[in-house]
Formats: sequence, C-alpha cells, structure tokens
Amino acid sequence: MSKVTVVGAGKYGSTTAQRIAEWDIVDEVVMTDIVEGLPQGLALDMNQSRPVVGYRTKVIGTNDYADTAGSDVVVITAGLPRKPGMSRMDLLGVNAGIVKAVTEEIVRYSPDAVIIVVTNPLDQMTTLAAEVSGFPKNRVLGQAGMLDSARFAHFISETADVDILDVTAVTLGSHGETMVPVPSMCSVGDKPLSDVLDADTIDELVDRTRNGGAEIVAFLKTGSAYYAPSAAAAAMVRAVVEDSGAEMPVCAWMEGQYGIEDVYLGVMAKIGANGVEQVIEADLTDEEVAGLREAAVAVAAKVADLEQIDL
Ligand code: APR
Repeated sequence: MSKVTVVGAGKYGSTTAQRIAEWDIVDEVVMTDIVEGLPQGLALDMNQSRPVVGYRTKVIGTNDYADTAGSDVVVITAGLPRKPGMSRMDLLGVNAGIVKAVTEEIVRYSPDAVIIVVTNPLDQMTTLAAEVSGFPKNRVLGQAGMLDSARFAHFISETADVDILDVTAVTLGSHGETMVPVPSMCSVGDKPLSDVLDADTIDELVDRTRNGGAEIVAFLKTGSAYYAPSAAAAAMVRAVVEDSGAEMPVCAWMEGQYGIEDVYLGVMAKIGANGVEQVIEADLTDEEVAGLREAAVAVAAKVADLEQIDL
C-alpha cells in the first residue's frame, strides 16, 4: 500500500494533499495538523469529491501521528508565516521548533520515508529536517526550484506570447536574491530562450521571478501563494511514489558537484523512490556556476544562524 503524509493542513498542505489525491497515484493521503478538526473536516470534504472527480485515493485527516505510520513520503508544510513585528530570526526560531518536532514524529512512525520540506525559510528547514531525522541526505529534500522555474516559465510564456507547454525554464541556487536563473537550460520549443527574448527582457523576467512570492502576497494581503507551490511539491511526491527518475530542480544535498559540498542547494536532480537518486551536474556556463557557488556560500551563512537557536 502506498501512503503519503502531508504535515500542516493549511493552504499549502491541503492543496498538496488534494492534488496528490486527485492524481489517484497512492492508496492514502494523510493530512495532519495541530488544529483539532481542521484536517478531519478538509479530508471529509475532499473524499466527497471523489465520485465527481473520479479517483479512489482516500484522504485521512488526523491530529495523531500514529495514523501517519508507514508513510512512503512525508511533506512538511507546517509552520507559521511571518507576522508584523516578527524579525527574520524570530520566524526562524518558531518554524525551526515546529520542523524539529514534526521531524521527530516522522522518524518515529515512518523511519523509511522520503521527507520533502516546503516550510520557510526553506534552506534552513531542509537542513534541520535532515539533521534531526538522521536519514541519509538523499531522503531529505526541499522544494523551491520547481516553483521558481514554473513562475519563470509562466512569465516567459506571457511575455513571448507562446504556449506555456512549449516553455522549459530552469532556476537553481536558492530562493530570492540567490536564485540562479539558468538561461542555458531555458528554451521555447526547440529554440534557446535567447532567440525568443532579448537579454534585457529576460533580466526583467528573472527579477519578477525572484520576487514572485512577494508579488502574490501583495495582492492577497494575508497569506501566501499555494497553487503553484503545491503543484511543485506534489510533482516531487509523484516522482518518488512512481520511482520515475524525473529530472527536476530541487533543494538537494551537495557532495562535490560543481565544486560545492556539505550544503543544501537548488540543483537539477533525478528523483525516485529513494528521494534524490542523483544530483545532475549540468553543463552550465561559467557565470551560472559562479552564481551557484555564491548561492551555496549564502545558504551556508543562513544555516549557521540555526546554531544560535536553542532548540
Ligand atoms: N504540527 C502540525 N501542523 C502545524 C504545526 C505543528 N507543530 N504548527 C503549525 N501547523 C499548521 C498550522 O496549524 C496551519 O494549519 O501549519 C499550517 C500552516 O498553514 P498556513 O498558515 O495556511 O500556511 P501555508 O500557506 O500553508 O504555508 C506553509 O509553506 O510556503 C511555506 O512560508 C510558507 O512556511 C510556510 C509553509
């Protein structure tokens, strides 16, 4: 029996659970949250959509980790958004406490699971989940690059007025400032991106992608994006449960690729039953490799902040 758990039944978690359930690729999707009744109510609602949408996957809502036992994949979305007056370090402390506690429960009930982290700040939370779990690093990965690449693809398709499904866009590195666009891996149909858009326009779209989350938050006022984020996380889950070997940009542990090691970083990787089956060292330009190395240094500095927190 295949089973996926999503921890956190907020916007991101519940949409991720819904997408996985609707694909009908696992027997059970378990949603858990600290708020009593929330996952149960959402699960009941989703299960009632099954005859209409046409899928068999059962969604289970629970506040008890015992129900998550034996999961093949666990997605961690639990966490708080940054509230007014909260510093970056405050948020780091709160979410680190949550991710640590959640990871301990995952290890207890699903010792063979692949863990996919989406809680922000992503690089630190992925590193923390890996450390707390003690799992082999390939079985703990984070979602960031799939989302940024999807946003970039959307902007390219709108600006160049081309079919979204003809666009291949790749971003690596980290989120925000240290996101590394990879024009050499971007294309529209069989044309390189540089044949379709000029360099200045590409730069503008890269900037818009870097700020993609903030642009949506500015519209929503409260809460953050979840449709594209959940699509990205669910696609990673799918690659694991189907052991597909799909190649996607994920936050993976580096072991010397591009001369970078001992840090989680957004790179292309082959995803299968064991999580990251292989980090793919793509044929990047010198500038792109330099961007990745800079991002690795920035992530390592942010991870060092974790040591100041009393967990
Ligand atoms: N265990 C389980 N669930 C928890 C815990 C915990 N210890 N602490 C908080 N939660 C739950 C909350 O009760 C809430 O239902 O996590 C959920 C978070 O949901 P939202 O506030 O809707 O946030 P969401 O938009 O889903 O984002 C979740 O993903 O993109 C990141 O920055 C985002 O870190 C945030 C995470």
